[in-house]
Order: sequence, then structure tokens, then C-alpha cells
Amino acid sequence: MPLVTTKKMFAMAYQNGYAIGAFNVNNMEITQGIAAAAAEEEAPLILQVSRGARKYAGLRFLRAIIDATVAAVPSVPICMHLDHGDTFETCKQYVDEGFTSVMIDGSHYPFEENIALTRQVVEYAHAYGVVVEGELGQLGGIEEDVIGVGAEELSKHLTDPDQAVEFVERTGLDSLAIAIGTSHGAYKFKTAPKLAFDVIEQVARKLPGFPLVMHGSSTVPREYRDLINKYGGQMPDATGVPEEAISTAAKMAVCKVNFDTDLRMAMTAAIRQVFAEKPTEFDPRNYLGPARDTIKTMVKGRLHVLGCAGKAAECSEHPSMVTAHS
Ligand code: G3H
Ligand code: 13P
Ligand code: ZN
Repeated sequence: MPLVTTKKMFAMAYQNGYAIGAFNVNNMEITQGIAAAAAEEEAPLILQVSRGARKYAGLRFLRAIIDATVAAVPSVPICMHLDHGDTFETCKQYVDEGFTSVMIDGSHYPFEENIALTRQVVEYAHAYGVVVEGELGQLGGIEEDVIGVGAEELSKHLTDPDQAVEFVERTGLDSLAIAIGTSHGAYKFKTAPKLAFDVIEQVARKLPGFPLVMHGSSTVPREYRDLINKYGGQMPDATGVPEEAISTAAKMAVCKVNFDTDLRMAMTAAIRQVFAEKPTEFDPRNYLGPARDTIKTMVKGRLHVLGCAGKAAECSEHPSMVTAHS
């Protein structure tokens, strides 16, 4: 199957009460682990590249890895997405390079500027059949460099449902990332995790059928945190979003759920374990291989929590529906 946009995936996900996993890719092993999980679980997939990935691997390699993945797992509908595009020029470049979906993250700009920027990207991307995700409200983490802020502080940055309606109507975008109390990274909550499901509910009531996106969704698995700490790492206070919260959001209007930190932790835990247990090992294949397997196991679990396991067929698109760039 050629690359697809998120149109069909989100329509099915919204209608049938599940969400699509969007996983950040940085190299071959991470991507192969995710793809193997999706193929075994017959799940649709979004592979996305962050600013850090773009800096680390570069567009050419990321694109080639994703293209190879699409060819390797033909049963899986795959969307190739730019995560947190910061300027019109970046989004234009990724549209021109054949990405089927781009995010323009203008959430740190004043409302009117965010609208103008997002609208500019939508006008360009839509002309090529590429879909656009925007963001309104502020997560902790990369957007503000806030790490582990308390619930009260986070609530000030939550998405305003009325503004969300105006934002969607005036930009014409295809999906909206909303701030509901999550943040990027491994240190999400100082106190008990609490997400603002009421914000999802209110936006869904005002914009029925419109797909929402949840960033900062990693669960920060205790299992990997403990392995990392056991084998010389230091992540004692790492906490993430509970699996139940993810599946609740997935049954609501959230159609795309982003994971990056969980992939990093799975990979690091596996590599640390090999290094600790086999100090004579120096063949990268013998630690990157287990890391890839661990990512696959973790992603399989996420696909079940999201409810998208077994949904590849219903999310598949007829070739004529696929973006002009593919
Ligand atoms: O966009 C969210 C990512 O987790 C941040 O990734 O450090 O690769 O830019 P990055
Ligand atoms: P996590 O840090 O929770 O994995 O979030 C990733 C993300 O939102 C990428 O855009
Ligand atoms: Zn994000």
C-alpha cells in the first residue's frame, strides 16, 4: 500500500471509538520495531519526525527509512507526518518532499498569529492533497521548557473549547492538537496524573466529528524505568500518562496519540541490559537488535490500548484517494 494521509484513518477512528498511534522515528531500528508491531497487530500507523530527528538523521535518511518501511509492510496503511513543524517554510519543504501530513505548531504565538500561520500552511498543503494538524493551548515540555509542572499550573495552559471552534473554522485544518494536561518527556506529573477529559468532551460537542490529537502521551513504563535504573541509569521520578487515560481519550474524539519517550525508554532499557549483562559485547547488532525487539513489544501493547489493533483493513485507502505526491 502506498503512503496514505490521515483522512480515512481518522474517519474510521472517530466513528468506531479508537485512535491511531503516532510514533516518532529517528533511525532504522526504531522504525523497524514499530512497523513490525503494526504488521503483526494489523494496525494503521503514523510515523512522524520531530525537530530533533530532523537534526539528527536529516530529511533524506528519514524519508528513505519510511519509504523502505512502506514497501516492507504493504498490509499497513502508513502516514508520513512532520511533527511540530515550526515555520511555513519547514512545512512547505516536507509537503514538497512527499510527506502526507504536516503539523504546524503555532501554539506559542498569539491566537491571531497562530491562525494566520496555520491557514497559510493549510492553503499550501491542501493544494497537494496533504493534511494539516495544528495546535492550540500549551503543553508543558518542549513548547515551554516546563518540566514536571504541577496540575494547577498546567491547567492555565489548557485549550479553550470556544477558541478551538474559531481556530478550526478560520484555518480549515484537518486535526487539532489540544492541551489537556499532558506534557512531553519522561517527567509529566508531580502529583497524581489527571487529564482534562472535559476539554475533549466540550470540543467534541462544539465540533462533532472533528479529530483531536493528544501529544505527550507516553506512559513512561515502570518496567523500563526500573530496568534503566537497575542497569546504571538515573530516572527515578519518571512518570507518564496511565494506559486507562489513553484508552478513555481514544474512545472520545482523540484520533491521534503521540509517543516518543516510551520508544526512547524501551530502547535504552534494552541496550543498558545488554551492556550490563554482557560486558564483552561490542557488536552493535547484538544490542540494537534486542532494542528493536523491545520497541516492537512495547508498541504492540500501545496499539491494543489505543484500540487500533486489527483496524488496518478498514483504514486502507483506494489508490485514487492517496495524496498526489506519493
Ligand atoms: O515532539 C516531541 C518529541 O518528543 C521531541 O522530540 O527531541 O526529537 O525534537 P525531539
Ligand atoms: P511523549 O514525550 O510523551 O512521548 O510525547 C511525544 C510527542 O507528543 C511528540 O510530538
Ligand atoms: Zn508533541
